[in-house]
Amino acid sequence: MSKKIVSIVGARPNFMKIAPILRALSAVKECTSILVHTGQHYDHALSTQFFQELGIPAPDVNLEVGSGGHGTQTGEIMKRLEPELIALEPDWVVVVGDVNSTLAAALVAAKLHIPVAHVEAGLRSFDRRMPEEINRVVADVLSSLLFVTEPAGVTQLRNEGIPQDRIHLVGDVMIDTALAMRPQAEATRDARWAGRLPPRYGLVTLHRPSNVDDPLQLEAILDALEQASQRLPLIFAVHPRTESRLKTFGLWQRLSEMPGIILQPPLGYLEFLGLLTRATAVITDSGGIQSEAAWLKVPCLTLRDSTERPITLELGVNRLLGTDPRALLPALESLLRGDWPTPGTSPLLDGHAAERIVSLLLSA
Ligand code: UD1
Repeated sequence: MSKKIVSIVGARPNFMKIAPILRALSAVKECTSILVHTGQHYDHALSTQFFQELGIPAPDVNLEVGSGGHGTQTGEIMKRLEPELIALEPDWVVVVGDVNSTLAAALVAAKLHIPVAHVEAGLRSFDRRMPEEINRVVADVLSSLLFVTEPAGVTQLRNEGIPQDRIHLVGDVMIDTALAMRPQAEATRDARWAGRLPPRYGLVTLHRPSNVDDPLQLEAILDALEQASQRLPLIFAVHPRTESRLKTFGLWQRLSEMPGIILQPPLGYLEFLGLLTRATAVITDSGGIQSEAAWLKVPCLTLRDSTERPITLELGVNRLLGTDPRALLPALESLLRGDWPTPGTSPLLDGHAAERIVSLLLSA
């Protein structure tokens, strides 16, 4: 029987997760695949560029919600998505990751009695101050199919009382994309950075509200980055939220004058992955980058108290530094001394997670 599947995306970290699922769906004749973009991210650098680089077809529907507070943004997505889903009458709504668009779409679909499939289910940081943690918990409880990236997620969902037959350990779709795109990513890096890529460098991304919305914390992070950049040149791809906070707090000038730091706008998928592939270390508060670094075996220094991806710690590549940025320099120094575990690998990171997801969706 033919199935209609509506996939929902909204923000940058959704795009590399949906790309392999859409590709796998398009290979199935007896399936209509429809893509809805909520418009949570709308800048070329955070949205369109990712569609182009990842070969994602233009969305069938764009809700164009834009930025706003959590309630406003989530509510606006719900308001605009509901009539679309009523008209489309899908068999499944697929949501990915943990952004506000994920939460809003899961709520709308569940209330319309449309079954929800959540890709990247079961991840928990156990920190409810992170908006993403609330989004994950709610999306999981509303989902009929929960596709999990790593074993800890399965245990967690069982502990939360989710019926076993809804839970499927499939691996990480983000790694499907990274594996498929790696050659192009390396070529993009070589073309864009020809003659100016330092032989050794650290790659930096920071955008979590807990790190960038508080002026004292952000200033302490700049102090730490300045010290670190005297040991290792740093390429810092600055998220729009972070740039806006740096400017508001009067810190932008100071950062832009640090000699060891190469400031970049938010980078496209290919350029960023290419840079990550060759980095000596990555310094981040992102979730997804911890997984990509673990797969690439690039040491990851995470400026957070918790991670929802414990496998990255078990594989030995990721170290949680906490939120006191003074932990950065000693961690970087021990890494540069070679005092770092030999990274392991996981069979789940094989590049076929999306195929497993689509086959389960179609047989459900
Ligand atoms: C969102 C996700 C976060 C993800 C991050 C990746 C939630 C709760 N958070 O955070 O999990 O890691 O995306 O980027 O969903 N802005 C622009 N251009 C855009 C979009 C946003 O300049 O295209 C600026 C606006 O000033 C906006 C701010 O960034 O107010 C924050 O955007 P928002 O989508 O609310 O959250 P992110 O911090 O990007």
